[in-house]
Amino acid sequence: MKKLFVKTYGCQMNEYDSGKMLDIMTAQGYEKTDTQDDADLIILNTCHIREKASEKVYSELGRVKKRGLKSGRKPIVAVAGCVAQAEGQEILNRASVVDMVFGPQSYHKLPEFLADVERGKRVVDTDFHEEDKFKNPAANISKKVTAFLSVQEGCDKFCTFCVVPYTRGAEFSRPVADILHEAHDLIASGVKEITLVGQNVNAYHGLDETGNVIDLGQLLFLLADIQGLERLRYTTSHPSDMHDSLYAAHRDLKKIMPYLHLPVQSGSNRILKAMNRKHTADEYLRVIEKMRTISPDLALSGDFIVGFPSETEQDFLDTMDLVHQTGYASSYSFKYSPRPGTPASQMITDMIPDDIASDRLLRLQEVLFKQQKDFNISLIGKTLQVLTEKTGRHDGQMIGRSPYLQSVFFDAHSSDTLGINFGDMVNIKITRVTQNALTGDMV
Ligand code: 5AD
Ligand code: SF4
Repeated sequence: MKKLFVKTYGCQMNEYDSGKMLDIMTAQGYEKTDTQDDADLIILNTCHIREKASEKVYSELGRVKKRGLKSGRKPIVAVAGCVAQAEGQEILNRASVVDMVFGPQSYHKLPEFLADVERGKRVVDTDFHEEDKFKNPAANISKKVTAFLSVQEGCDKFCTFCVVPYTRGAEFSRPVADILHEAHDLIASGVKEITLVGQNVNAYHGLDETGNVIDLGQLLFLLADIQGLERLRYTTSHPSDMHDSLYAAHRDLKKIMPYLHLPVQSGSNRILKAMNRKHTADEYLRVIEKMRTISPDLALSGDFIVGFPSETEQDFLDTMDLVHQTGYASSYSFKYSPRPGTPASQMITDMIPDDIASDRLLRLQEVLFKQQKDFNISLIGKTLQVLTEKTGRHDGQMIGRSPYLQSVFFDAHSSDTLGINFGDMVNIKITRVTQNALTGDMV
């Protein structure tokens, strides 16, 4: 059997796509390997969102080449994902080890590309054929308890710092029937928790079989009816697309987890405007307030950028202020990184010196990380429903997921109910926490 090694960078969308490529190649007689050394095909599924993310790809390609020279093997090397989409042919010019370059809309053509490479060609495909990509999805072979399901792709928001509208293209929503079909397949293969993914997931507006437009909230209601599905999540949302049906879904559906990832980027209205975010700090706070009225124990997560061009100390303090008002259970924060082709990258005279941006990031993260730890501490003594996912490093140790998305460690031996399986829901009383994980006992 030929072997395939996939390395995934970046967002959940890429993780979903990597899974699909693995499924497609499994159907072609490949099997997955966890090391490059015995791979016949290496796929790097890349991320272009920040400069560091795309630089990593070229360093990795350098390592792939070196390892090949050392072992005398020449696997076929593919660069997929958003760097591939953005740089195309340039990658073939820069990295001789690469045989194929293709963007996120071309994965279904992987077997074709491979045949071309085997005939001695080098392949580049960065066309947008959104719909085809989702046709005839191969069966889910990974047998996981949790899975991503892509419902929407691309973005029409054009935040001025962001490459996504260029690399993933215009917003596209998959038809409802296809999503339900895939969800049923996932459940049948043992999945208990589905996370709907999309760059702008709450802008979802797919068609049902009678031609009605269905939004994300309505889609969640349809999915929640599926027997055997225990938990639903969705990511990533935009504050301007919080429709009534989404609040209703959180209010009425027990299967929706009390967790919301809602990026704000900045707490300064002036910066939000320069970012073309289409919402103010106040509007964001009102969304959170409304959500917390419906779901009081909601764990909130956010994305932040510091050092956006022209950001003053006061703008930054406005962000700190918003963070204090909101309280985050988890977060992702970054220094602004200019991306080729985006409007913000042209704001050259307003660039913030790196030492100032680094200092702001440190100050912001100090608060965010403390909030995360405090959120975890607030769970000590509480009993949480945990979805068992895998075994831990110690004998008898299991790791699962809380409703708030933290990893939960527990000892399955210490209970009378031996034989906990992956996919089982167990009640765990939390005894200890760190910033990133919880530990507890079965009750
Ligand atoms: N610089 C820094 N951070 C960025 N993000 C997106 N583009 C950039 C950029 N050019 C961050 C945003 C987004 C997350 C996925 O990555 O916070 O929500
Ligand atoms: Fe990028 Fe803004 Fe679209 Fe999110 S909403 S993908 S940050 S352009």
